[in-house]
Amino acid sequence: MVASTGSTAREGWSSRSAFVLAAVGAAVGLGNLVRFPAEAANNGGGAFVLFYIACILLIGLPVLLSETLIGRHGQSSAVESVKRMAEESGAPKFWSNIAGLGVASAFLILAFYCVIGGWVLYYIGLFTVDIFQSGVSGGALTSMSVDEIKDIFPALQKDGFTMSVLDVVFVLATLAFVARGVSGGIEKASVWLMPAFFFLLAGITVYGAFTGAFLESLSYLFTFDASKLTGPVMLAAVGQAFFSLSLGVAGMMTYGSYVGRDVNLAKTSATIAFADTSVALIAGLCIFPIVLAAGLSSDGGLGLMFDTLPHAFQSMPFGTVIGLAFFVMVGFAALTSSISLMEVPTAWAIDKFGLGRAPTAVIVAIAAAALGVVSAYSFNSLSGFHPLGFIPLFEGEAVFSALDSVTAKLLMPIGALLVSIFIGWVADRRLIDNENGLDGGLHLFWRFLVRWLCPVALTAILIVGIFPEILGS
Ligand code: PHE
Repeated sequence: MVASTGSTAREGWSSRSAFVLAAVGAAVGLGNLVRFPAEAANNGGGAFVLFYIACILLIGLPVLLSETLIGRHGQSSAVESVKRMAEESGAPKFWSNIAGLGVASAFLILAFYCVIGGWVLYYIGLFTVDIFQSGVSGGALTSMSVDEIKDIFPALQKDGFTMSVLDVVFVLATLAFVARGVSGGIEKASVWLMPAFFFLLAGITVYGAFTGAFLESLSYLFTFDASKLTGPVMLAAVGQAFFSLSLGVAGMMTYGSYVGRDVNLAKTSATIAFADTSVALIAGLCIFPIVLAAGLSSDGGLGLMFDTLPHAFQSMPFGTVIGLAFFVMVGFAALTSSISLMEVPTAWAIDKFGLGRAPTAVIVAIAAAALGVVSAYSFNSLSGFHPLGFIPLFEGEAVFSALDSVTAKLLMPIGALLVSIFIGWVADRRLIDNENGLDGGLHLFWRFLVRWLCPVALTAILIVGIFPEILGS
């Protein structure tokens, strides 16, 4: 099934399942494996997790359906697809440009995401060398002291050159797939890497269940304590839902534009959201038993994966092999997500400038690597450079964390807000009702969510995100 736009055939996914795998690959990434467990740990476990699930169902899923619908209708890059729907709906010119913001955000996320991808490569290297030096059941890492292990990550962050090289390697790996096109490259990555990812995740989770503190983790993640559900916790949950489902950055519009007319978008969106949420929960059930069994506290942040976990693997039987399998799994998930991030600006630039896919992707990759290198050095020699320091919300943030904050706190929620207003209020209903694959009560419910709940909730989140003092925090 190749999606086509009348006379000029446009490349598309080779099947519905290829689309589902690619979209799940885009959604499942560092957000599920690093950010979700860290946020859950930071925000009190069960209350956060259950509110997060509600956000996925009531805000994430309706926006996901809206984004894929815009893409499938337009059959072009995100910007062109929105423009087309806006023009067909007779909407004011402003609306034609809303996806431009998403394209910019996708590029900014790509730049710092690949730096983290580079860290994952570093740990893969570390565990591999360890196995070669000392065999599978122990290793140099195993013989390190707690303090030495704790030093690995800070030492890496001080080494701007190594981080830059690894960043470039990760960008090149991403480019290798994006340059080959939708069915020839992007789809291939998901079809091979996602099953491997699920296999590794299942294996490590079972291992953790037998050797780690599984029951303790279950109760930690799922015991609902209403008193912990404060404003900031709710905010964190909504932000995490967007990041995890890749919403508000035109990514799902771009992937949706390669989908054929015969695909039921509502069902497919539900499958994507279900898979993404399951992976986040399983990742929690995979990581916490290992961390808790090692008697470590999980204080969240990037340190959970890059400090605490390597430390926990150290004290487990076959920890080096499990550590290697773990970081390979994270690498696969990160790669399929970075591919989707690179595809958004690439598809836009192909439409805009008419250059071929490969040269366009190379230019995007060079720009992303350049910004990535600056982000890598922002942990050391450029740590005093605060590009957005003049805005109170981003005060004191060097390039890496400014990129993370400006996308998560501003651009993604604004992007998703604009999409929900566009679909709920601006676009011609006849264009939407034919596309969404819903009927009866479910259709009405979805309309209610995109028209009312999503815009209101997102506006509230933006306001409290920008002025946290409103919630007294
Ligand atoms: N959803 C991805 C993750 O969880 C991150 C991402 C965000 C990917 C936006 C594409 C677009 O890691």
